[in-house]
Amino acid sequence: MEWDRSESKQQSACPLSGNMIRKLADLAIRQTAFAYAPYSGFTVGAALLACDGQIFTGCNVENAAYGPSNCAERTAVFKAVSEGVRNFRAIVIAGGKDGQITGECPPCGVCRQVMMEFCDPENFWIITVGPAHTGHIYTLGQLLPKGFGPANLEG
Ligand code: THU
Repeated sequence: MEWDRSESKQQSACPLSGNMIRKLADLAIRQTAFAYAPYSGFTVGAALLACDGQIFTGCNVENAAYGPSNCAERTAVFKAVSEGVRNFRAIVIAGGKDGQITGECPPCGVCRQVMMEFCDPENFWIITVGPAHTGHIYTLGQLLPKGFGPANLEG
């Protein structure tokens, strides 16, 4: 798998090695098999790298009442936080309809906001797995400009 780092300043600044990105991408893809997505058929996996090197995985978990459904990214973040880990470096996301990765799967707005709670927008990397062994690298700040976070409550 290749991640083009030439497209933007953010991509070339990403400190993760190609090997680490590939490892996280493999884990994210593997997680899609655990997704519980009987309603949308859209299976998503995520692999979250903490600053201490730990990796937390997640998948989407849907619900017959639809509203309580949880995205793969939030599953991974909540698993980590519930284990006492709150500092994160990057998340890799893979997903698609019926288990097929036909395009990149960028995080939904709710997941971006959850990341904003724990991550520095300029130093947290969101990496999508696309088809044909390609992907994109973004900062959280790129995907959530002027995000509202804990610092905004300080006045
Ligand atoms: N989903 C995720 O898990 N992550 C994303 O980044 C986008 C969407 C899930 C939510 C729902 O279970 C299904 O994909 C279709 O929206």
